[in-house]
Amino acid sequence: MLARSRSKASLERRCAAPGRRLVWSVAAGLGLVFLAPARAAAEERVSREDASARAALGQRLFSDTSLSADGRVSCETCHQPGAAFTDGLPVSRGVLGRVGTRNAPSLLGLAQMRELFWDGRRDSLEALVFDPLTAPEEHGLEDVQAVLSAVRARHASDFERVFPGRGVTQQTVAQALADFVRQLPVASSAFDRAQAGDRAALVPAQRRGWALFTGRAGCARCHHLEGGALTDGAYHAGEVRSELIPHQAEAAREAVGMSREARRASVPARAEMAALGRFAVTLSPTDLGRFRTPSLRNVAVTAPYMHDGSIPTLLQAVERELYYRSTPGRQVGDLTPSERSDLVEFLKALTSAVSPSHPPDATPRVH
Ligand code: HEC
Ligand code: HEC
Repeated sequence: MLARSRSKASLERRCAAPGRRLVWSVAAGLGLVFLAPARAAAEERVSREDASARAALGQRLFSDTSLSADGRVSCETCHQPGAAFTDGLPVSRGVLGRVGTRNAPSLLGLAQMRELFWDGRRDSLEALVFDPLTAPEEHGLEDVQAVLSAVRARHASDFERVFPGRGVTQQTVAQALADFVRQLPVASSAFDRAQAGDRAALVPAQRRGWALFTGRAGCARCHHLEGGALTDGAYHAGEVRSELIPHQAEAAREAVGMSREARRASVPARAEMAALGRFAVTLSPTDLGRFRTPSLRNVAVTAPYMHDGSIPTLLQAVERELYYRSTPGRQVGDLTPSERSDLVEFLKALTSAVSPSHPPDATPRVH
């Protein structure tokens, strides 16, 4: 078994095999100076290979519609590789056509993100991946046991190969899916090439938009350019739908009455609960209606926008942001129409090439 022979334990067993004893005792005679680096390098290679075997297994789970209540929904339904792992809908649609309350974010580059979901209610991918599987509006499986049975029905032997002696458990399923999502790369974009010194990577409108983004328009205050994630990972006021405002106080009271785990378990089922944002995690009044600043990587291919998908186009999103984030006294009118269009052109420079593990024929499907 391939994966098993790669494990650390069996590597040690192989070293101790009779035919190799002589080699190892001679090597030992040469001292640790020789052995230690060679062994560390071998162990590092083994753990890299293990992670990629787990990610490959996670990828199979990611696209498997049998892991859902109606046999039609997989992670890919809402996180489509050809659309930077989003679904093109304002709010996602899961099993039996059930409509959710939030816009599906891109999954590219999440390895850098400290807190996950629009409200940051999970702090690791491993802790997160069972949420969509058991959410009634997403995969709709009853509970963790139902997920494990569905995984066993199709992937038991693959799990035994990749996780020898452990097989399908809550931890191994979480690890495989998390490793797959974690390694989804942020491929290079025209902006990255420009930052690395290639002046020809951006057209003049994009260069002007870049200067506005970091300068007068003030976008980089929250969509940080340092580190390349295009987010500060912090929470700021988000879009508010006027029809939800009268229900806010009652929704907040309801959240206060819920257990910590119930507030984190899955995507909020009702729009007025979803609109509470970060408040549902911290119960701090200053967090009411706040959402994690989204990364703007690939933003040109992930319409519609905002946590509730309420803004259809990139130009409208830029205009909303200009209007609501501007410092007091400044209005959207401060930027001319051609300057706003320069900002949009700059945002287009943040689109990455399609990742190599997901060829361009993985076109987005609209459900
Ligand atoms: C029915 C649509 C749907 C399905 C199916 C779905 N997701 Fe999501 N996903 C969403 C939505 C909507 C959000 C945002 C929810 C929120 O922030 O409250 C999300 C958020 C996430 C995030 C957090 C991203 C971030 O920026 O913090 C990860 C990771 C993720 N999903 C992974 C998965 C995995 C893995 C699966 C399959 C096991 C899956 N999703 C299945 C719709 C879906
Ligand atoms: C004070 C912090 C802050 C500033 C300044 C800011 N943003 Fe944002 N931006 C956010 C937050 C938070 C959201 C999510 C709001 C929501 O979901 O309701 C967001 C959302 C967006 C989106 C939608 C992304 C998506 O995937 O849905 C775009 C586009 C955007 N901002 C562009 C800009 C531009 C352009 C500027 C400068 C004019 C700017 N932002 C200034 C915090 C900020």
